[in-house]
Amino acid sequence: MVNTYVVVGTQWGDEGKGKIIDVLGGKVDYVVRFQGGNNAGHTVIVNGDKFILHLLPSGVLHQNAQCIIGAGVVVDVAVLKEELTALEKRGFDTGHVFVDHRAHLIMPYHIAEDIAREKARGIYKIGTTKRGIGPTYMDKISRVGIRVADLFDGATLLQKIELILAEKNPLLKQFDCDVFSKEEIYAIAMQYKAILGNRVIDGTIIVNKAIDSGKKVMFEGAQAIMLDIDHGTYPYVTSSSPTAGGICAGVGVSPAKIKNILGVSKAYTTRVGEGVFPTELDNEIGNRIGEVGYEFGATTGRKRRIGWLDLVALKYAAMINGLDYLVITKIDVLSKIEFLDIAIGYEIEGVTYEDYPSWINQQTNIKVLYKRFNGWDEDITSIRTYDALPENAKTYLEFI
Ligand code: IMP
Repeated sequence: MVNTYVVVGTQWGDEGKGKIIDVLGGKVDYVVRFQGGNNAGHTVIVNGDKFILHLLPSGVLHQNAQCIIGAGVVVDVAVLKEELTALEKRGFDTGHVFVDHRAHLIMPYHIAEDIAREKARGIYKIGTTKRGIGPTYMDKISRVGIRVADLFDGATLLQKIELILAEKNPLLKQFDCDVFSKEEIYAIAMQYKAILGNRVIDGTIIVNKAIDSGKKVMFEGAQAIMLDIDHGTYPYVTSSSPTAGGICAGVGVSPAKIKNILGVSKAYTTRVGEGVFPTELDNEIGNRIGEVGYEFGATTGRKRRIGWLDLVALKYAAMINGLDYLVITKIDVLSKIEFLDIAIGYEIEGVTYEDYPSWINQQTNIKVLYKRFNGWDEDITSIRTYDALPENAKTYLEFI
């Protein structure tokens, strides 16, 4: 019996995955992150206490689940240390947090490069989180990245640092940025080694053996399908694969072992950063949803863009992930709005699209085809059962 569970985002991130992962985290033996890094911002509120996690799996608050930062994640060890210390100060044990030795390290030159590249792109900027995510994945693909395991290989680490700085420093100079010496990067690497210490594991073997022995393993996605490097709104995407398929590559698990795929969607849509957003509401209703829903990025504090729910994109998410379940969050934010629209198609140059056209961009003239629903006046924040919801809210959900 394969007991795996997957939580992935079905929009542009910030769907409320952290909350769902926290709820399920108490029921599993392992929580595993498979992609991304500290560009994520998962907010979890436990007994009125707010936790914002960027790198640590959202399941970390459950002491009985082993938390693994998998091979496909990019790791900023300084952030890891900050998050571990913050949890420890609040009385949490963190002995159950581990990092795969294959994971790539985000180094200070990656963060400098991310910031510099964004600046250089000017009006074409991606709107990244400036956490060094893209440059770290670039180095991984270029085969000059530094992995967690390299920290423990004294014989070759300095040589690897020399090799990468020979590429990075001229690039940084070209961007008018400070350069890094090999001594300073080596010293940082040694600090990272000390921080990681005995948290370093072979996550791929451990996770596979756990699955094979019937343990419950949950894979925690960060970001979401529309930010996927291949299937998202390129180039306004992140640099990893936040889909159920991303688990296979990111952790080294067979597709046959990926079960119970749960997608999370808001009852409306938000997006942070640049890029196409067909259902965007640049108006009073959008402002209202943003205020009531407190739509500010958990990582960068940026105001999120707001739009109606987009079923064209959601169907695409369901298809690519092979969703078994769908969780809808934040429907309470939609109370007291007279009419609610849901996108069911796009019309572009007279042609109707019900499947997401991957070539659209911010310049495409898209007429969104909506289905309109009556709203509801009731405050539904304390409703805990489906039956107790107002009829109009049920109609809205059933249509989704
Ligand atoms: P990066 O991942 O920092 O390179 O940013 C690339 C794009 O992904 C930008 O538009 C970011 O705003 C977006 N992004 C990255 N992580 C998240 C997230 O956790 N939630 C929402 N958007 C994100």
